Amino acid sequence: MQIYHHIHSLREVLSEARVQGKRVGVVPTMGNLHAAHIALIKTAQLHCDVVVCTIFVNRLQFGLNEDWDRYPRTLESDSLKLNEAGCDFLFCPEEQEIYPNGMDSQARVRVPCMADTLCGKSRPGHFDGVTTVVAKLFNIIQPDIAVFGIKDFQQLAIVRRMAEDLCMPVGIIAGDIVREPDGLAMSSRNGFILAEERPRANQLNQSLSWICEQIASGERDFHALEQEAKQQISESGFKPDYVQICNSRTLESAAHDDAQITVLGAMYTQHARLIDNISLSLKPPL
Ligand code: PAF
Repeated sequence: MQIYHHIHSLREVLSEARVQGKRVGVVPTMGNLHAAHIALIKTAQLHCDVVVCTIFVNRLQFGLNEDWDRYPRTLESDSLKLNEAGCDFLFCPEEQEIYPNGMDSQARVRVPCMADTLCGKSRPGHFDGVTTVVAKLFNIIQPDIAVFGIKDFQQLAIVRRMAEDLCMPVGIIAGDIVREPDGLAMSSRNGFILAEERPRANQLNQSLSWICEQIASGERDFHALEQEAKQQISESGFKPDYVQICNSRTLESAAHDDAQITVLGAMYTQHARLIDNISLSLKPPL
């Protein structure tokens, strides 16, 4: 695997690949790679000839009181894992390379409405930071496809919408959630879960699964289900942020006859904010 820190040298090598008719894919990450990231690399390899993984802890998507400064930076072990997975290129730029004019006056890409709901409510500006850096990475790499994990369902939906609205010629591919044996979705932030919390940390997944079972067996009082799930999370000793039953495409609160539903949730442990989601298809009414 070749490692690049600068835009111009990465562009040079990618334009050679394109001249040879190779399809280029990108897997954007913030590093601290685990099995779920490697699964995204494997998914990308199925769809293209050359895979670029990017590692950049993007300050623009972190709020002032969030964990940018303590976000784990593990470049050495990350590059070993990528190498082993057969990733072709790693792009890991310094902040100056991505934001040469600073961040305050940086031109931004924003997907209104979708960015302000769910996680966007408790993390104002977060998704603007995500779409801005992803748009920049797309412009730098000009990939044919890009792979994003379904665990960050709202991010995936917003990136899809950005690419569609701005006519970006990039196919957005969804990578499955990878879970620990007890159902906890793999995340770089799981390292912040305390040992004493860990046995209960799958509560978010349990509560979202419980909602899906209720809906599948005919329950349609979505508000009551959301409230009950939040109660379950509180009773297990965590602070719920939100639990919401949504239309999978628009992320608006689901209507009772929506066929594609996603149940999304977020909760706080002592030192981490965890997110998860489960999608279900309902037969349209006869
Ligand atoms: O999902 C992430 O790790 C980040 O939000 C992303 C897509 C790499 C943008 O910084």
